[in-house]
Amino acid sequence: MEKPKVFVSRRIPVDGLDRIIELGDVELWEEDLEPSYDVLLEKVVGADGLVCLLTDRIDDQLMDAAGDQLRVISQMAVGFDNIDTKAATERGIAVGHTPGVLTDTTADFAFTLLMAAARRVAEGARYVQEGHWKTWGPTLLMGYDVYGSTLGLVGSGRIGQAVARRASGFNMRILCYDPFVDEDVITAFGAESTSLENVLSESDFVSLHVPLTRETRHMIGASQFRDMKSTCVLVNTSRGPVVDTEALYHALKDGEIAYAALDVTEPEPIPFGDPILTLDNCLIVPHIASSSIATRTQMSTMVADNLAAGLKGEVLPYCANPEIYG
Ligand code: DGY
Repeated sequence: MEKPKVFVSRRIPVDGLDRIIELGDVELWEEDLEPSYDVLLEKVVGADGLVCLLTDRIDDQLMDAAGDQLRVISQMAVGFDNIDTKAATERGIAVGHTPGVLTDTTADFAFTLLMAAARRVAEGARYVQEGHWKTWGPTLLMGYDVYGSTLGLVGSGRIGQAVARRASGFNMRILCYDPFVDEDVITAFGAESTSLENVLSESDFVSLHVPLTRETRHMIGASQFRDMKSTCVLVNTSRGPVVDTEALYHALKDGEIAYAALDVTEPEPIPFGDPILTLDNCLIVPHIASSSIATRTQMSTMVADNLAAGLKGEVLPYCANPEIYG
């Protein structure tokens, strides 16, 4: 019997990749950078399965280019805003993702960014590396206390709740804005449900945990920065376009907020030479919140599980468009 044809758009951790290679006639994109959209359009022709990453645009045109035999798209990420799931559903293509497994790793990292920003860790390291450390300074790099402060969560999904668990260990008051979740649920994980305006104006730290949708794109922009305390630290581990980068640059430069710590940016990667990279009060890392060895390994095996199920026509264990099953 002919093996199913699979295109894998980047080398993923070996545990998942080895299993994927056994599942079919696999073509692996070996470059460090993702294939361009045009290359992807060519590569998917005739594929039964596609393994992709959040850096790949997977739209209706691409699904049509692949052909009617495409049964499954298996993405190594929990977020899938790069995939047109509606178009996939219309074509009967199952979309897999990797929920749950990266919750705690990402929450750890959101808290790492929060603490690093509060206590100016990146600036301190730069200060030492650049040879400025001559003595103990009584006012050197004074930051903000985390314990006992107020954390504002925008979004109360799995990762937001996991951040709240960490915050409660620091005796923080936790405010939460999530119009899609009942107040009882928010109260149950130790937060106070309130409006976005209250979260922004009362919090010392604001951490974003919403998916990227038409509604959340640029939900944090110039007017939201004006609502925030001038001492506020913004943490973003969700998706870059949730924050208007240009507005953030001005807010940081003009002292409307104190600091931003970002795992994600718009655009991504942030171009070398972007003015935001000149700011001492902005810490940017390259979208690594889920990047622990254990988590990325588990994500890769979930990708293989989804692909295997999809190729066999079975229900995906971690499906992003369960509506295809009726
Ligand atoms: C995701 O999974 O959506 C993260 O952004 C990367 O792990």
